[in-house]
Amino acid sequence: MEIRLDGKVALVTGASRGIGLAIAARMAEAGASVVLTARKPDELRQAAASLGADPESAALPAAPGASGSNTGERPPGGGTPAPGGEAGHGAPSRESGAGGAVPVPPGVPGGPAVVWFAANAGEPDQAEACVAATVARFGRLDVLVNNAATNPHYGPLMGIDPGRAAKTVQVNQYGVLAWTQAAWQASMAEHGGVVLNISSVGGLSPEPGMGWYGVTKAAVVHLTRQLAAELGPMVRVNAIAPGLVRTAFARVLVDDHGDRVAAHLPLRRIGEPDDVATAALFLASDAASWITGATLVVDGGALSTPSGGV
Ligand SMILES: NC(=O)c1ccc[n+]([C@@H]2O[C@H](COP(=O)([O-])OP(=O)(O)OC[C@H]3O[C@@H](n4cnc5c(N)ncnc54)[C@H](OP(=O)(O)O)[C@@H]3O)[C@@H](O)[C@H]2O)c1
Repeated sequence: MEIRLDGKVALVTGASRGIGLAIAARMAEAGASVVLTARKPDELRQAAASLGADPESAALPAAPGASGSNTGERPPGGGTPAPGGEAGHGAPSRESGAGGAVPVPPGVPGGPAVVWFAANAGEPDQAEACVAATVARFGRLDVLVNNAATNPHYGPLMGIDPGRAAKTVQVNQYGVLAWTQAAWQASMAEHGGVVLNISSVGGLSPEPGMGWYGVTKAAVVHLTRQLAAELGPMVRVNAIAPGLVRTAFARVLVDDHGDRVAAHLPLRRIGEPDDVATAALFLASDAASWITGATLVVDGGALSTPSGGV
């Protein structure tokens, strides 16, 4: 059976590289129109180009009248735009590339398209603006992939400070809810849809140095079940818990420990972004139409290795 998403509209957060870009690529290949979002416009432009879009006309204009729209204006307390910084809030100014200045290309809506919109996954107003721009362009949103995440603290839980703890929750946990709320309100309550959350095996089992990140990823597993219970039958909500995958996010682990980790896995290799993307495509498609509230572990068998405590 070939899995297709023809005529669907998908939005992927954290889509400028790594797992998010691989998911976007698979969904575009399967016939969906895809909105790529992350903080940095330049990387989004390149990512869209890598999927065959014209990098300039692929900038998605902000929806007319959307609050927190793509103008670089910040709401009170919303932070200072600093695209590229770890703590940055990346809604770009018109000067930085994405804004109302870019005309809608002819023929859209219509055929599938790959477009991008810069937004910080931890900023609810930017989630709303991105979803509003998506619906303004394509008429609806069928598939939301909550993939963006952050891990500003590496080390034992006893050493984390309140600011980093709060930021991790804001992006990894509250962000998942905020984007789902935006998608529900703007489209899915009326048209239905699919939400797919990217958790981690770190949310299912303790990992050294990544404890707080793992706590937020465990929250994503429960949020997935809770949302599935609340949003059915209109919306299916599932999660994927990847093991170690070769991306920039995991570069230190892959470079320093990848071979050792691979040697202990039942499948003897660490993951590639496409391992997660193919699972995401399945869960987003009608082939998974009786699956909701589930977390699919995609880890080469990491959680099935013999326990260190035995
Ligand atoms: N790689 C692994 O081994 C692994 C294992 C388990 C789970 N995961 C999960 O998989 C997902 C993707 O990770 P990855 O490995 O593909 O990471 P990655 O290669 O570092 O890519 C992260 C993406 O998220 C964006 N991003 C980061 N912070 C953001 C924010 N605050 N708002 C919006 N976008 C943001 C980045 O772009 P900007 O910097 O421009 O925003 C980038 O597009 C994450 O949820 C991660 O927790 C990864």
